[in-house]
Amino acid sequence: MTVMSAVTSNTEVQTMKAIAQTVYGGPEVMGLVEVAKPTPQETEVLVKVRSASVDAGVWHLMRGTPFLIRLIYGGLRRPKHPILGSAIAGEVEAVGADVTQFQPGDRVFGDLSESGFGGFAEYVCAPETAIAAQPTNLTAEAAAIVPVSGVSALQALRDVGQLQPGQRVLIIGAAGGVGSFAVQIAKALGAEVNGACSAHKTDQVQQLGADRTLDYSDPALTQPDQPYDLILDTAAYRDFADYLPALKPGGTYVMVGGSTAAFFRAMLLGPWVGKRRDRQVKCLAAALNQADLLTLKTMIEAGQVTPLCDLTYPLAQVPDAIRAIEQRQVVGKVAITL
Ligand SMILES: NC(=O)c1ccc[n+]([C@@H]2O[C@H](COP(=O)([O-])OP(=O)(O)OC[C@H]3O[C@@H](n4cnc5c(N)ncnc54)[C@H](OP(=O)(O)O)[C@@H]3O)[C@@H](O)[C@H]2O)c1
Repeated sequence: MTVMSAVTSNTEVQTMKAIAQTVYGGPEVMGLVEVAKPTPQETEVLVKVRSASVDAGVWHLMRGTPFLIRLIYGGLRRPKHPILGSAIAGEVEAVGADVTQFQPGDRVFGDLSESGFGGFAEYVCAPETAIAAQPTNLTAEAAAIVPVSGVSALQALRDVGQLQPGQRVLIIGAAGGVGSFAVQIAKALGAEVNGACSAHKTDQVQQLGADRTLDYSDPALTQPDQPYDLILDTAAYRDFADYLPALKPGGTYVMVGGSTAAFFRAMLLGPWVGKRRDRQVKCLAAALNQADLLTLKTMIEAGQVTPLCDLTYPLAQVPDAIRAIEQRQVVGKVAITL
């Protein structure tokens, strides 16, 4: 499939391989293309991508659903950003004149979701604030799965959920991208961790460090023996109100993601319904933050968090990687190897 052609007859133009799309749709709309290699602006770094990762946000952007995502990122009728890919790890190849933090050869990881994406390519330009030195004890594949999912888990637990040592937390979707980081980060923050996932994934969630696992059909999900201080819902496929009885008075439910309907119900009605029942209902809006990338680097180097990379695919098979995530075949994350 020819998706785009930025290659001109000018043989001076350096090119690179990328996975791109010009219309919204399923993984079949993506194809391997040859495009011009980017050049960094003054404040940008040119990264030779060693690995990128796939997360739920990628398939939302690929499909253009929910529709709101088209308003947020632009591209009402067709994708504004033909090359997706937010989370990357790689090596700095060149830096703009005003870059102060990095130099060629540095190994970095980062999140391109606020700078136009482009991670599914051999090279990408990123503002220096979007990247950080990668954890020294990780391969590029393991580092590339950290930036979006790890930062989201950290911000949901620490900032939105205000998790304290000794508290009981329930993580719903514990085998997912965000969930697999949340289990480990919650343990590192000193919590007692309960992880909910599909029945055949409970062993892996236990290995991540969960004190207890339960599958989605377990009644203890909404009626536990002992109520939770915090519920982190990364798989919101039932109504937030179902979980309120499972919280202690004053406890907090944090909606991270799931179905669009469930997310909007929690966002619009959650604060009001929660207040009436003496519970807090909050929604995460994760934001790229270089300091949080460095916090995760420290936790990873200290052995508190180990990114769980389940599958790897070459660049040309990004569509297969997205299918695997959509079809819930993955435990943890999927990485793209370049
Ligand atoms: N608000 C924010 O700022 C923010 C930031 C990051 C992500 N998100 C959102 O958070 C959600 C999770 O992201 P992720 O990257 O962790 O996704 P993921 O890797 O695909 O994980 C999703 C999890 O949802 C579980 N699940 C339960 N019922 C499901 C159903 N009916 N259909 C599909 N999955 C179901 C799956 O459980 P099993 O694996 O046990 O089968 C899976 O572990 C996504 O909706 C994403 O868009 C939001």
